[in-house]
Order: sequence, then C-alpha cells, then structure tokens
Amino acid sequence: MDIVKGITKRSSVRKFTKTPVSDEDLKKILLAGDAAPVSMGRYETMQITVVRDAEMLVRIGTVMSRDMSKVFGKEMKRPFNFYGASTLIVISSKDASLKGINYTNGGTIAENMMVQAAEGGIGSCFAWFAGPAIDKDADLKSALGIDADMTALFGLVFGYAEAQPEEKKLSEMKIKGNYV
Ligand SMILES: Cc1cc2nc3c(=O)[nH]c(=O)nc-3n(C[C@H](O)[C@H](O)[C@H](O)COP(=O)(O)O)c2cc1C
Repeated sequence: MDIVKGITKRSSVRKFTKTPVSDEDLKKILLAGDAAPVSMGRYETMQITVVRDAEMLVRIGTVMSRDMSKVFGKEMKRPFNFYGASTLIVISSKDASLKGINYTNGGTIAENMMVQAAEGGIGSCFAWFAGPAIDKDADLKSALGIDADMTALFGLVFGYAEAQPEEKKLSEMKIKGNYV
C-alpha cells in the first residue's frame, strides 16, 4: 500500500455509483482498520459491523433522518440514503475507562480504513449520525448484532465515487499549528 497516495486520494465522497465494494476489497479495508492503534491494545472493546443489506440500510437511514432533521432544523422526509453507497460500516466500543477513549479508538480505525480504501480507488465518507441513531434503538442495535454493552459510535460509507475527488496536496496546513 502506498500510504501517501491513500492519504492524498482520500476525500469525503457524497455521490456513489451503485457498484458495491467487492468482498476482497472490503477485507483489505477491514484488516487496515484492525491494524489501527487501540488504547491499551484492548481490541476486544471494539466492534466493526458491516451493513450491506438494503432493507437494513433503509431502516438505519430512517432513524438517521429523524435525528438529522432535528439537528439541522430541516425536515428530511426520506430515509438518509448514504449518498447512494451500499456499504455502511458501524464502529462500536464498550471502552468507558476514560472519557473520549472510545471515540479516539474509533477514529484511528476509521482513518486506517478510509486511507486503505482511497489507495485502492474506493471512496468513503463519514455517516456519523448512524452511530447515535442505532445506539438509541435497542431493536435495531440487536438486529445488527451489536452487543448491548457496546455503544454504536458512528458510521462510515464505502463505494465508488461518481466523480473522482481531486487529489490533495500536502503543502499548506488548514489546522492551526504551533511550535513551543
Ligand atoms: C467526526 C466526523 C464526522 C463527520 N460526519 C459527517 C457526516 O455525518 N456526513 C458527512 O457527509 N460528512 C461527515 N464528515 C466529513 C467531514 O465533513 C469532512 O471530512 C471534512 O469536511 C473534510 O473534507 P474531506 O473529508 O473531503 O477531506 C465527518 C467527519 C468527521 C471527522
């Protein structure tokens, strides 16, 4: 894997083709996530759920739309469609040892997966609202096989971009930086 290519080619994709990610590519993405650092090496506190079932995606999208309507103050009448992507990955965690450690662990896994995907020409985007939407719906969470003691943190979608995003240049910082 060309790590720099993966980083520069990754951008949030919000328009996907209908072509699903192959099992082989999905495995590479999952293994990249599995290679991410997790606090204290407690990998057993994390869960990665792959959702490819169309009906389940609609069910999740329905709860997401309700939440997103409230947050954005604009009614979304249809289930969120995941930008047309057919693969959703939900990251869950049961690590509550330190505030925020669960999201930090989830973030490292997410970025590894997105960079691996991008390097292989696969687009991705956070579908963050999938986490809280699933987490508060016990039936949905159970139907997804997410253990009750896990917190569904967020979702990510993967697929093929309708238009390839422009490759990033690693030159100027957007994030404020300082040296001490
Ligand atoms: C924690 C987090 C949550 C995000 N949630 C969403 C989301 O729910 N929907 C979405 O379209 N993009 C979401 N994004 C994508 C950001 O908007 C995007 O990464 C940012 O604007 C930078 O653009 P880039 O990813 O193309 O580099 C999220 C990103 C992060 C890191």
